[in-house]
Amino acid sequence: MATQPIPRFPDGFLWGVSTSAHQIEGAARLREPSVWDVFTAEPGRVKDGSTAAVACDHYHRYREDVALLADLGVDAYRFSVSWPRVNSPGGLDFYDRLVDELCAAGVRPVPTLFHWDLPAGLDWLERDTASRFARYVTRVADRLGDRVVRWITLNEPAEHTLLGHALGTHAPGRTLLFDALPAAHHQLLAHGLAVRALRAAGAAEIGIANSHGPTWPASDDPADREAADFYDLLLNRLFSDPLLTGRYPEGIAELMPGDARRVDADLEIIAEPLDWYGVNYYAPARVGAPQGAKTVFGGLTLPAELPFSVRAIEGRPVTDFGWPVVPEGLTELLTGLRDRYGDRLPPVVITENGCSYEGLDDRDRIAYLDGHVRALHGAVAAGVDVRGYFVWSLLDNFEWAEGYARRFGLVHVDFATLERTPKASYAWFREVLRAQRAPVG
Ligand code: BGC
Repeated sequence: MATQPIPRFPDGFLWGVSTSAHQIEGAARLREPSVWDVFTAEPGRVKDGSTAAVACDHYHRYREDVALLADLGVDAYRFSVSWPRVNSPGGLDFYDRLVDELCAAGVRPVPTLFHWDLPAGLDWLERDTASRFARYVTRVADRLGDRVVRWITLNEPAEHTLLGHALGTHAPGRTLLFDALPAAHHQLLAHGLAVRALRAAGAAEIGIANSHGPTWPASDDPADREAADFYDLLLNRLFSDPLLTGRYPEGIAELMPGDARRVDADLEIIAEPLDWYGVNYYAPARVGAPQGAKTVFGGLTLPAELPFSVRAIEGRPVTDFGWPVVPEGLTELLTGLRDRYGDRLPPVVITENGCSYEGLDDRDRIAYLDGHVRALHGAVAAGVDVRGYFVWSLLDNFEWAEGYARRFGLVHVDFATLERTPKASYAWFREVLRAQRAPVG
C-alpha cells in the first residue's frame, strides 16, 4: 500500500526497529530464570497460558533476523540484553555474535540493558539491585563497547513499576499500589549508576527509553483536571523530572525510600547528563476523577481505589489492543517535553512506536505508522530536536501478559513453525527509508 511521500527528515536521522530479549529470544534453558519465567509459570498470569521459553527462537535464528533488518534497510537495531543470560555461561557470547552480525550487515546495534527481565531472586524494592545492575552493565560494556556506540540503560521504568509492582499484571506480580514507588526510585538510581558505569567504560552516547503520552483531562471539571494532573505526574513527570532536572515532582521525594539527604544524593546520580532522551509513544490517555468502580483500558484493569479513572477516547480508530490511534498526540507530547524542559531536554529519539493488528496485509499498521511518522515530522518542524525513530517491533513476539495474542511485528511469525513472513508494513517501511535517502531534487 503506497502512501503520499513523507516529508524529508534531517540528514543523519536514525531509522530503526526495536525488540526485547525476553519477547523474542527463547532458548530459556540456556540462561538463568528471570522474574518473567517465574510469573508466567503461575496459572492465569498470561492470558493464553503461553510462555517465552521458545518465543521467536531468535537466539538460534538471529542470522535470519539480521538479514531481515538488512533487507529492510534500517540504520539501527534496538534490542535488549538479558541480564539472566549474561549471568549464565556463554551468555555474553550470544550478544557478541549478534553485534558482529549486525556490524557486518551495516546495521548499528543499540542495546537496552534492562527490558523488564530481572534475574529471578532480585527485586527492585531492594536498593542493592541498583548497584548490582551497574556491575552487570560494566561487564556488558567491557565486552561490546568496542562496537556499540549508542546505549540505552532502562526500558520504561514507569510501566515496570505500574504494571509489575503496583497493579500486578506484569512480573513480578506485586499489587502494592503507591507502595511500589521505591521500585521506581531504585530503577532510576540504577539508571544513574549505569550511566556512570557506561561512561567509565568509554561509552559515547547514552540514553534511556521512557514511555510518555499526553494526558487529557476527561472534562474541564476541576476534579477531572486534578485527577488527570496526578496521573500525568505518576506516569510521565515522575520519570522525566528527576532525570532532566534532578528533582522529583512536588510531594514525591517524601515517598521515596531513605531520608531526604539520601534521596537528594541519589537524585544527583539519577540526573547524570544524558546524550539523548528516548521516548516510547503509543497513545495519549484521557483521565478523569475516580468513578467508584474499576476501569478497564487497553487490556488493563485499574482498581477503584486509585485517585483517577482512565476513560475511552471516543471517535478514534483503535488497535487490536483497544488503544486509540492518535498520531498528533506524538507532536503534542514532544513539543510539551521541549516546553517543559527547554535546554535540559537532550536530543530526542523515538525508541518505540507501533501497534497490534492481525494479518499480513496490515493496512491499519501502515496507516498508524504513516500518521505517526508525519506527526513526528510535525515536531521537527516545530523545532524539537528529534534524531531518530524506531518502530516497535521487528517481529511478532511474546507480548507479556497477553502472550502471543497481540501482533506488533513488521514481520509475521508463525509460532508453530517459527517461519518469518514480512508483512505489507515491512515493504511500506522499506520504501519510506529508500525515499528518505534518495538524492534530493
Ligand atoms: C514495551 C514493549 C511492549 C510494547 C507493546 C512497550 O511498553 O516496551 O515491551 O511489547 O510496549 O505493549
